[in-house]
Amino acid sequence: MGSAAGRLTGKSALVTGAGSGIGAATAEVFAREGAKVLVVDVDKSKASVTVDRIREEGGVAEPFAADVSDEDQVAGAVEFAVERFGGVDVLQNYASERSLVAEDVFVAEADLSVWLGQLRVDLLGCVLTAKHVLPHMVRAGGGSITNASSLAAWLSLEGRPAYATAKAGVIGLSKSLAVEYGKQGIRCNVLAPGHIVSPATEKMFSAAQTEVLLDHVATPRLGRPDDVAMAALFLASPESSFINGQVLVVDGGMSAYAPMVPSFRRLAAQ
Ligand SMILES: NC(=O)c1ccc[n+]([C@@H]2O[C@H](COP(=O)([O-])OP(=O)(O)OC[C@H]3O[C@@H](n4cnc5c(N)ncnc54)[C@H](O)[C@@H]3O)[C@@H](O)[C@H]2O)c1
Repeated sequence: MGSAAGRLTGKSALVTGAGSGIGAATAEVFAREGAKVLVVDVDKSKASVTVDRIREEGGVAEPFAADVSDEDQVAGAVEFAVERFGGVDVLQNYASERSLVAEDVFVAEADLSVWLGQLRVDLLGCVLTAKHVLPHMVRAGGGSITNASSLAAWLSLEGRPAYATAKAGVIGLSKSLAVEYGKQGIRCNVLAPGHIVSPATEKMFSAAQTEVLLDHVATPRLGRPDDVAMAALFLASPESSFINGQVLVVDGGMSAYAPMVPSFRRLAAQ
């Protein structure tokens, strides 16, 4: 870890939601590529587990407990990263409110608090981290921001409308940031994962549903956090320096085929 040849050597990264799943995998990959990583999560113990794993491999990371929907806590996290690592070159937003899944139901039935809770973390969290990181990136002459959206932003799951809306908002926000700050050397892109097996999704989908999901990817396996982390590495590294305001889908082809394909396959098998 942290070798001179790393693709992020000399960079400082702030990763939210880095105590679990995709955020944790991204923090680990970034540290392996030489970045100093602030591992931010609302759950400090989860952030510390990620940091322990990074340090065991010889990487540089610090845990930081912050709720991304609280502006003071976000400001504190950014200040800490700047003091400890000298700036924030790379911002990665993966924090997601998972406790509202069961209540995020059809619009006429859901309580407004569900909408506010989902939007506060998944969308406003990206606004707040960008708001506090951007002045440092502007002073440094550049930076890279990647925000997590989801296929759910444009393929309805029939249910989870607040999540879908938050993730669609992330795309609009990211394109705005790309245009507003592009001339200052700052890029902002979006990762849209399909189904990725993570601690959150393992709880969300039954074994039978997981089989259905497998049937709907073009690849012979489901996605893993590392699949998204490697795409995040590309978007954070200078290799993608001319890519700005884009959505990179990481879904094993789940969104690539026409909707009638599974039915045609079933007919062909009869
Ligand atoms: N896993 C998938 O299949 C999938 C698919 C599409 C999009 N995504 C998106 O990718 C991102 C990561 O997904 P994951 O499955 O790894 O999630 P996860 O639930 O495993 O991890 C999310 C992390 O965010 C933290 N968190 C929750 N609320 C927070 C808050 N207010 N402030 C700071 N941290 C907070 C949690 O403690 C957790 O560690 C999310 O934005 C998710 O919406 C995931």
